[in-house]
Amino acid sequence: MKKYIFITVIIFITLTSWVLIEEVYFIVPENWPQPVYDFKQNKLTKEKIELGRILFYDPILSKNNKISCASCHSSFGAFAHVDHALSHGIYDSIGTRNVPGLMNLAWQPAFRWDGGIDNLDEFSIMPLTHPKEMGEQMNSIVSKLNQSAFYKSLFFQSYQDSVISKEKLLKSLSQFLLTLVSYNAKYDSVMRKQASFTKQESNGYQIFKANCNVCHQEPLFTNFSFQNNGLPMDSTLNDYGRFLVTQNTVDSFLFKVPTLRNIEYTFPYMHDGRFKKLSEVIKHYNSGIISYSTLSSSLQKKISLTTNDKIDLIAFLMTLSDRTFVFNPDFQFPKQLLTN
Ligand code: HEC
Ligand code: HEC
Repeated sequence: MKKYIFITVIIFITLTSWVLIEEVYFIVPENWPQPVYDFKQNKLTKEKIELGRILFYDPILSKNNKISCASCHSSFGAFAHVDHALSHGIYDSIGTRNVPGLMNLAWQPAFRWDGGIDNLDEFSIMPLTHPKEMGEQMNSIVSKLNQSAFYKSLFFQSYQDSVISKEKLLKSLSQFLLTLVSYNAKYDSVMRKQASFTKQESNGYQIFKANCNVCHQEPLFTNFSFQNNGLPMDSTLNDYGRFLVTQNTVDSFLFKVPTLRNIEYTFPYMHDGRFKKLSEVIKHYNSGIISYSTLSSSLQKKISLTTNDKIDLIAFLMTLSDRTFVFNPDFQFPKQLLTN
């Protein structure tokens, strides 16, 4: 099997010391499209990825030093927040949307359920400063980091400059996020002809291709478009989705098609976390779709599945679980934070 990342070693000499920089090449899995992220303006290195991971797990980035990115994005839930329907942030504040899993972000042209942010390097400003997420100000984060000998040394190792800036902070976070590539599910082994589906999974795959693949397109299991999949509106949250970004009524109740990779781990489901189980999701597509004027054309024809079809479809969705991703020690809590 081909590894997506390999490493070359480049040695730099600076005036004061030797610095070892290990450049990391991002390798696209076979038969996948090219990523949209521009790696040229943020070249991956081992040091910056590791720094990004430490920042991702460090609550120092929040106003009260208690909430980290990982408080909401847990590696064991494929970076979703499995025990909360809606985001749970600083001072126990509850947000308005479900925390999505984080994976294959290098391919994603827009972020958030409504696609409101289209640049990964700018993305992190939102959770860092959002009053219901980490509630901090960018200047204050940069000054906290600049007062820390631990971070001064880590930024020096990464950038050969110990002055910490907002841009370096954001780019380092992106470096870690970009390494979260999930491409080792059973589905992938089957596509590489190293394994085969059971009869049930194989039937589920046919049902998937007939009803779901148009939006949840292989191999990333999303076509990154915005669609209305017919969920009844939650009148408390009143979330108009994509409309909030474009102010165009044809975008009312459209949400970004989420990936289905690791769907076994990223419950609860949908932008508001309304469904706890996959069986509830399948029930929605089979008999719960509400006919809005903006309902996606591909869902206007009724989907009719037998009880066996539903079970087989779930069996197929389980083949998208990637244990090497969810249990990858490189994505977990970094031990440097314990000794800092
Ligand atoms: C309080 C919980 C919370 C914290 C803390 C948090 N996030 Fe999130 N994250 C969310 C929610 C909720 C969304 C979806 C937001 C939306 O669609 O409006 C999200 C979305 C994202 C996305 C977009 C995923 C996609 O597919 O569109 C990325 C990337 C991300 N978060 C990274 C981070 C990083 C990096 C940090 C730390 C700097 C962080 N998050 C901190 C709750 C959180
Ligand atoms: C017209 C496009 C479209 C089709 C067809 C479609 N979906 Fe979806 N799917 C979406 C959108 C959009 C969302 C997010 C909706 C939201 O949160 O409001 C979604 C969400 C989901 C989720 C929740 C994912 C998460 O992380 O919360 C699952 C599971 C899912 N779909 C499975 C399926 C299955 C199985 C089929 C086929 C029976 C299917 N979808 C067909 C557009 C589609």
